[in-house]
Amino acid sequence: MSPTPAFVDKRPAPGLDNVVAAETILSHVDGQAGELVVRGYHLAELADWPFEQVLELLWSEQTAMNISARAIRSLLGEARLRSFELMQPLLPGLPSLTSVEALRLFLSSLPDYETTPHHLMAVAAVPVFTTAIIRSRQGLVPIAPDASLAHSADFLRMLSGTLPSPEKVRALDTYLTTVADHGLNASTFTARVIASTGAGLFSSVVGALCALKEPLHGGAPGPVLDMLDAIGTVAEIEPWLLGALGRGERLMGFGHRIYRVRDPRADVLKDAVSTLKEGSDRIAFAGKVEEAALALLKEKKPMRPLQTNVEFYTALLLEAVGFPRDSFTNVFAAGRMAGWTAHVLEQECTGRLIRPQSRYIGPDPK
Ligand code: ACO
Repeated sequence: MSPTPAFVDKRPAPGLDNVVAAETILSHVDGQAGELVVRGYHLAELADWPFEQVLELLWSEQTAMNISARAIRSLLGEARLRSFELMQPLLPGLPSLTSVEALRLFLSSLPDYETTPHHLMAVAAVPVFTTAIIRSRQGLVPIAPDASLAHSADFLRMLSGTLPSPEKVRALDTYLTTVADHGLNASTFTARVIASTGAGLFSSVVGALCALKEPLHGGAPGPVLDMLDAIGTVAEIEPWLLGALGRGERLMGFGHRIYRVRDPRADVLKDAVSTLKEGSDRIAFAGKVEEAALALLKEKKPMRPLQTNVEFYTALLLEAVGFPRDSFTNVFAAGRMAGWTAHVLEQECTGRLIRPQSRYIGPDPK
């Protein structure tokens, strides 16, 4: 065998912890301080921004077309209409798939020859596909987009068929903005690896969605609600949590690979859901569950600081604005698509294939 380069002899960090695998101008997560910075802005400053403004922030200078939030709003409207048209032949195949599987199918059907700029198309398509999937699963007909509306308002309108209240639109905008980008998380890294091969934006974001869909990453908010329902009453909180921890189960909505303190996104979303009357009963109960869970995690896992993560209050917010829990991961993808597309554009500019080494620990050849 040829000699192995010295650097390959080192044991890789499990889970690539602390490995810096890319340079980015897009976002930074400080896990010790509990801070998220998106292109020069702290998360708290962005929380009131319409989603289109965050898209302008993330996309600016990344493509030949530098477009304002106002232009993005109208181009997204047109791209939602185009997505609705492209989706029609796929609707009959929906019943056998889960919501996230159906979204994966629809996204992967977007043609590489599509003339709408692919980053706009990908962001526009997720709410159209997600609401069509939800409604089809409920036996209802999908609602066509209204290109004149802002993205979040139309997302909620395509879900329910009626114009949403300004409070709900604001809450969904805060959600999409809050989850738009978050450093080199597993799905974003996946998108960058695929983009580095030249596979194109749609292929890259389909890969990202595949990485997002389970509870260790973006699949936890539905199970957060399942947990709250299973606990049921205040008297059951402590016994239920103790039982789950005793069986070695993980409490959904707690813990994070990077944050060692509270995830800053949790409080932004808690504030947003507090503004909605639909969230008030849940939020009071969830607050008690959170308090008890944090105390028990501290006691049972003293070696590992485990705090509330973004998914805990995501679950309450998405439920309060009207999404069914089996669609929560799709709504997460609607927000994170902003970051995925920006990272794909950034990666494509580097022109460098991502191709790390592995350390061979198998048998020597005979
Ligand atoms: N509940 C109970 N114990 C936990 C939890 C939890 N939520 N999270 C971690 N632990 C424990 C582990 O069991 C392990 O304990 P042990 O050393 O006694 O075996 C210890 O903490 C370390 O666990 P790791 O797997 O090394 O932690 P990691 O940093 O890889 O995990 C993760 C991060 C996957 C998010 C984890 O905390 C988890 O599974 N949380 C629950 C699911 C969840 O909320 N997912 C959403 C994450 S946010 C996002 O990605 C958008």
